[in-house]
Amino acid sequence: MKNILEIENLTKFYNKSFKALENINLNIKEGEIFALLGPNGAGKSTLINSICGIVNFNTGTIKINDMDIIKNYRSTRKITGIVPQELNLETFETVWNNVNYTRGLFGKKPDHKYIEKLLRQLSLWDKKDNKIKELSGGMKRRVLIAKALSHQPKLLFLDEPTASVDVELRKDMWDVVKKLNKDGVTIILTTHYIEEAEELSDRVAVINEGKIILIDEKDKLIKKLGEKTIKIELIQPIDKINGNLSKYNFTLEQSNSVLSHTYNLSSNITDITELLNDVKKDGYKIKDVSMEQSSLEQIFVKLIKENNNELVRN
Ligand SMILES: Nc1ncnc2c1ncn2[C@@H]1O[C@H](COP(=O)(O)OP(=O)(O)O)[C@@H](O)[C@H]1O
Ligand SMILES: [Mg+2]
Repeated sequence: MKNILEIENLTKFYNKSFKALENINLNIKEGEIFALLGPNGAGKSTLINSICGIVNFNTGTIKINDMDIIKNYRSTRKITGIVPQELNLETFETVWNNVNYTRGLFGKKPDHKYIEKLLRQLSLWDKKDNKIKELSGGMKRRVLIAKALSHQPKLLFLDEPTASVDVELRKDMWDVVKKLNKDGVTIILTTHYIEEAEELSDRVAVINEGKIILIDEKDKLIKKLGEKTIKIELIQPIDKINGNLSKYNFTLEQSNSVLSHTYNLSSNITDITELLNDVKKDGYKIKDVSMEQSSLEQIFVKLIKENNNELVRN
């Protein structure tokens, strides 16, 4: 597959001295869903805003479809759509007017059939005559998507598409993204939810303090980074772990009354039902069971530590 986006040695300073992006190199293939994963302040929005011409960068080159985004500003803008992180809509206008107007801004002829199809696809058709201020948060975000797609871009950027969207709507949003991708749109999204990257993306880049510290296929990344911990609280404390339980690498915590087992998210070695059965078979009485998934925050800490160690070793 050919690259639809090529970024070389991109650097961005704010206020001349704050380095928000440092030497970013990134290629995106046509047809991919690519997730930029990183904590708040990592530089995700700065990166996609630089690509979309909303933010001026300092050094480096960005090419979309082999065209330099500065030299070929108009042509590259035409094939790019962005759904910004902030909701910025004309609240007194209707959904229909908002979306058609945006299409016009890209110099495209009106196409009511296409806009109708788009609004239906985003479950906004029955709201087309409503003013933006009459919509829920999730609907507003879908209007932003409709606007970003109004000129039929090939490359779509979604900046935190599901931040502050509740769990149910998040799933709908994921379906929308998958459907768009199936219809041929290349998608780059930013997120700080690892589940979101896991659900949607083919490849993931982890960005921290303005640097890409890792790019990998999603499956490999999850294997490397994701962990879950199951904690089993027992009614009676125990001296040591034996019997059926010795095959799990449990550790004993909290005055020996909690069995804790951490396992990799991608490994299907740990069958929780079997694990609980083994605890029961050994005659232990369970008071409580809880699961913890390593937060992205913890994963970052681990990753950055490893990253730094590697730098020291080399
Ligand atoms: N307009 C701006 N002026 C100065 N600093 C900014 C500006 N926009 C973002 N920053 C800073 O740049 C860093 C990266 O921000 P941003 O790209 O918004 O991160 P993210 O989207 O990953 O949360 C942060 O430290 C942020 O405070
Ligand atoms: Mg952001």
